[in-house]
Amino acid sequence: MSFIHRTFGDLTVKASRLQVMLSMSLASHPLGRFIPNPFLQGGFAPVRDELTVDDLPVRGTIPPELDGVYLRNGPNPAYKPISYMYPFDGDGMVHALRLRGGCAAYRNRFVLTAGLRAERRAGRALYGGVAIPHPVDPALIGPDGDPNPIKNTANTNIIRHAGRIFALWEGGPPTELDAGLQTIGPYDFGGRLPNAFTAHPKIDPATGEMLGFRYAGCAPYLMFSVIDAAGGFVREVPLRMDAGFMVHDFAITERHAVFFLCPVVVDIEGAMHGGRLLDWQPARGTRIAVLPRDGDGPVRWFDADPFFVFHFMNAHEQDGRIAVDYVQHAGFGRASGPPPSLWRMELDLAAGTARRTQLHDRSAEFPRVDPAFEGRSNRYGWSLVRGAVRGRPGTFTALARYDLGGGDMAIHDFGGGQEVDEPVFIPRPGASQEDAAQEAGGWIGAYVYDHACDASRFVLLDAIDIQAPPIAEISLPRRVPHGFHGNWMAS
Ligand SMILES: [Fe+2]
Repeated sequence: MSFIHRTFGDLTVKASRLQVMLSMSLASHPLGRFIPNPFLQGGFAPVRDELTVDDLPVRGTIPPELDGVYLRNGPNPAYKPISYMYPFDGDGMVHALRLRGGCAAYRNRFVLTAGLRAERRAGRALYGGVAIPHPVDPALIGPDGDPNPIKNTANTNIIRHAGRIFALWEGGPPTELDAGLQTIGPYDFGGRLPNAFTAHPKIDPATGEMLGFRYAGCAPYLMFSVIDAAGGFVREVPLRMDAGFMVHDFAITERHAVFFLCPVVVDIEGAMHGGRLLDWQPARGTRIAVLPRDGDGPVRWFDADPFFVFHFMNAHEQDGRIAVDYVQHAGFGRASGPPPSLWRMELDLAAGTARRTQLHDRSAEFPRVDPAFEGRSNRYGWSLVRGAVRGRPGTFTALARYDLGGGDMAIHDFGGGQEVDEPVFIPRPGASQEDAAQEAGGWIGAYVYDHACDASRFVLLDAIDIQAPPIAEISLPRRVPHGFHGNWMAS
């Protein structure tokens, strides 16, 4: 993660001392070595092979006009981990599902990072994880290796911008891949963003700009960045804060970037004295910062009660008011409370007030929106939700379609033992502007793991009539482990 990254001066020294303390305290825990990690079992278990398979079996009909590829990233440790904490650790593996002419093909490849290359040479795991960073013998890293105690896993998301494909992990720079999923290497935007870059950048559908940020445990704690539509670095703007907060995602509107600074403090000093590295400090409350995207104007600040956010669905602004839709967690780590669900935060820029309301009470995560509506008012959104039969820890068995225009939520419940991953919106090619404006055209796709059969399929649903039977179900050549984030990339 960012707070371990080597480029933050004296932080490296602190991190090195910290890693030794953590290694001593956690590795020596009497149960630490004997409890099977549930996030390395069942649908989470890694796969080690890299396949290329054409003409997958299809039940139903893939719309023949669909032409593109769904790339999805996720953690997939190549070797038995020294330390493994979901959802932070594990080598990135990209799963590609290509749809063309009514046919489907599958390919998966590891993201061959510098850290994984060193481990392949050694034939075993060398690096630790977030819970137990592990110093690596420099002789094993090699001249082109990753010298940090935690490697850049490039495992969280995969996007395409200005013709380049990037596997993303928030603690390091993007890793560029080619269209065949071969790893090209780290990409730092001409040397302007060498340290780290969020795994959740936003691409403005009108300007084509990519907006992102990086955060760290020492000043400057958070830097907001703008990349133009051609992939050129435009600017970085610091957000002035009194501490470093874990910030996984953010939201944009047409004019602003919105950061929720939930009270998970990257507390290196505290950790060196026996505290937690990621420390839930609810007394700080949640602070919200609204930055002008063009860097022209003051940052507006809002205060709210403490809660935690991994993921935002979307945001938009109108008449000086910003609405932000997000999945709210009651806390972080061992904090207790109701399960995460979809909330809306309304920020009045003139009055300086923040008001939040729960939109739906069903347990949810991995919210998505049609990318054409990023930063704009959207009627529809989608997420994973709890099904009628509760899934195993960390899994969901149903997909939801929200109607934020006042309509009902619709659910596609896959049933017990059917574990569904993050949905992706796939726009209908050739949809009229009127259709697009009414959010009427498209499908929702997702990988579904059948626990009883130990097999995965890709399911294609009507995006609006999500309750209807699948339009197509594509059998995968073998299980696709549960992952994080992905995107549809039209040809
Ligand atoms: Fe995420």
